[in-house]
Amino acid sequence: MIPTGRAPRILVTGGAGFIGSHTVVSLVEAGFEPVIVDNFSNSQQSALDGLRAILNRDVTCYSVDCNDRAAMTEIFEKEELRGVIHFAAYKAVGESVQQPLKYYRNNLDSLMLLLELMPAYGVQNLVFSSSCTVYGQPEQLPVTEETPRLPAQSPYGNTKAISEDIIRDTVNAQVPIRALALRYFNPVGAHPSAQIGELPLGVPANLVPFITQTAAGIRQSLTVYGSDYNTPDGTCIRDYIHVMDLAEAHVQALKKLNDAEIEASYDVINIGTGRGETVLTIINTFEQETGVKLNYTMGPRRAGDVEQVYADVTKASRELGWTASRTLAESLRDAWRWQEKLSLS
Ligand SMILES: NC(=O)c1ccc[n+]([C@@H]2O[C@H](COP(=O)([O-])OP(=O)(O)OC[C@H]3O[C@@H](n4cnc5c(N)ncnc54)[C@H](O)[C@@H]3O)[C@@H](O)[C@H]2O)c1
Repeated sequence: MIPTGRAPRILVTGGAGFIGSHTVVSLVEAGFEPVIVDNFSNSQQSALDGLRAILNRDVTCYSVDCNDRAAMTEIFEKEELRGVIHFAAYKAVGESVQQPLKYYRNNLDSLMLLLELMPAYGVQNLVFSSSCTVYGQPEQLPVTEETPRLPAQSPYGNTKAISEDIIRDTVNAQVPIRALALRYFNPVGAHPSAQIGELPLGVPANLVPFITQTAAGIRQSLTVYGSDYNTPDGTCIRDYIHVMDLAEAHVQALKKLNDAEIEASYDVINIGTGRGETVLTIINTFEQETGVKLNYTMGPRRAGDVEQVYADVTKASRELGWTASRTLAESLRDAWRWQEKLSLS
């Protein structure tokens, strides 16, 4: 049970980033007190302004690299934490191929430091950001948590698989940590207030930010990579989840860990909608919902893209009492509202 009285303090590494900032909102709404650690390597201070505007109060944020042992120790010492959500990581797939050690060092060292500090300060509950990338192209769809992981296609993807293993092995060694690795499918959208959202640095690698930037005139044209896949319209299929649904899944995961009586545990849970949508469906829905015509062309397949992947979400519903509730149309409207706000600022 969540104790009454002082709100349980939750360390949110990468809390100024896309998914982290939305989760901070959901945490506060659910009665937790987020403590953000972010080095702003892929986010901006303006995310904190957005959070203050939504929450109508200040948020605690340490401008700290979560590989900095001394600074992190001080935070654990001071904050009397009750749990950790570990978002902080580098996530650019292409860059990870060029600079693998940068990715292994940041993504793995930060996790290992947390796994050392948590038991030292009696912090048991850990929610970890994993990814459906660990499944590669699964043979059967929808993909369940029992589906075997496939060798990663990139150093970034490999950091997620290795991180899962590091957590599992730590828990198996009876370190008193209860952990849930959430395997996210494709987070999209933004907070409906348009105060926070995704801030891709440079050319976006993901479809929806590319769509909104093209619609806003920042990019000239969108290329659809591949139209000859074995899907209803020939384009790739993904499971697009509204970032606020994803944020709420973290709260449910924390509550589940809080309620657990076992000392050490580890599990993985898919977080998606359970629906697969083609790229052309996303484009058409975006045009319908916003009234903006998109300039796009069909191009060749892109190396490394899987044809289709979408989640079986039975386990999330059973274990977390959570299902995604927002529609694709809502996600795309919210993504566009955010882009319009960015274009004005
Ligand atoms: N967005 C996606 O499509 C997606 C899909 C699956 C998994 N994930 C994972 O979810 C997590 C959050 O993703 P996001 O989309 O919000 O990314 P993001 O880049 O917007 O957020 C990550 C945040 O972590 C911070 N950060 C990175 N390294 C840090 C360090 N060493 N110390 C302190 N802060 C650091 C960045 O500044 C950024 O604010 C990541 O672990 C990512 O790999 C994301």
